[in-house]
Amino acid sequence: MKHIKLKEGILALTANAAPNSLLFESMWPIPHGVSMNSYIVQGDKVAIVDGLCGWDGVPETLFALLKEVDIALDQIDYVVINHMEPDHSGWLDNFKKLRKDFKIIATERALPLLNHYAGITEHIQTVKSGDELDLGAGKKLIFTEMPNIHWPETMATYEQQQRVLMPCDAFGMFGSIESAIFDDQLSPDLQQHYERETLRYYSNILGAFSLPVQKGVAKLADLQMDVIAPGHGIIWRDNPQHIVEEFMRYARYSKGPAKEIITVLWSSMYGATEMAIQPLVQAIEESGVATHVHRIPDTHVSYVIQSVWESSGVVIATPTYEYKMFPAMHAVLDELFKKKALNRKAFSLGSYGWSGGAQKELQELAEQSKCKWEFLEPVEFQGRPTTDTIKLIQQRGRELATQVKEWVASNRK
Ligand code: FEO
Repeated sequence: MKHIKLKEGILALTANAAPNSLLFESMWPIPHGVSMNSYIVQGDKVAIVDGLCGWDGVPETLFALLKEVDIALDQIDYVVINHMEPDHSGWLDNFKKLRKDFKIIATERALPLLNHYAGITEHIQTVKSGDELDLGAGKKLIFTEMPNIHWPETMATYEQQQRVLMPCDAFGMFGSIESAIFDDQLSPDLQQHYERETLRYYSNILGAFSLPVQKGVAKLADLQMDVIAPGHGIIWRDNPQHIVEEFMRYARYSKGPAKEIITVLWSSMYGATEMAIQPLVQAIEESGVATHVHRIPDTHVSYVIQSVWESSGVVIATPTYEYKMFPAMHAVLDELFKKKALNRKAFSLGSYGWSGGAQKELQELAEQSKCKWEFLEPVEFQGRPTTDTIKLIQQRGRELATQVKEWVASNRK
């Protein structure tokens, strides 16, 4: 945990959830941890913008950080709730027991959440986009509603004097903060690391809300942002526009095209479907398109979503299991479609024993989900693939690669 002066009168308090100690939202692995960031704005009045408490509601870390920066709990006049998800607000329950006289600043949509998560129904000032809160001594907070980045009640808080935006989940990432906390302190390796962690965070946590992300970020266009200080991850003071552009790019990936990449998702029970994978991947790569290859269920769905998110094409290779798709593949596709990885160029194949069925179920699932994946004709084969079947699968791989290249190229024009 650490604290740092961001600007005159604005402090950042940050703590890491230890790597592998928990799953983010109880489902997403965080082998590199995740940082929780909270901010203090000091005018004549003092505001805390978001909290940090992990998922257990225990706020000792936040309280210890406040002690480090010499701010007593009873000096805090305002608690600004950008977002009610308990990773940011779970400390409220304890805070209200220790500090009686404070005011909450939140959007109207936060009211039921404040009641049901923290039992708070009073001393709340609701705000809308454009509303201001004058803290005195030149510090003024301006609020912008950013619904569904990530929950409906979310907003961003902007400090006008120092031009610092505190947007909570927007512009956030997985990955602990270690020695470097600002974008200008990152080595090329660290830049790459956080870029991967931003993409995985975006696709896992915000992907399904890509339309609200685009609408919400567009509302910030008129703000002069010297610093972007999100609720998770690196703080952007050298080039804040970079993370804005990254988020907008990831939001556009929802509807595609994304990069010139094909993700190959494959499952195999006894090795028959597997026999087609290496020749298929070779055909795609020889056509000049990169691949990401994941065996299902060996790869966690978090990484599958990340891969598909930045891919314009997808291959689904799944055997038939009891007249249906291999169940683990069904589960992964269901989650991919819920996350709104839409409009991919696609090809499916797979082996069956005594009866097919996987391809039929895949088409039904794709239709029901309205994912709008555009499939080439599938290749479903009994038992092991013959040499001719492998050749046909390779031909489909080349066709898919061509489609992906043309789609990505047409988007560049
Ligand atoms: Fe970081 Fe949606 O909470």
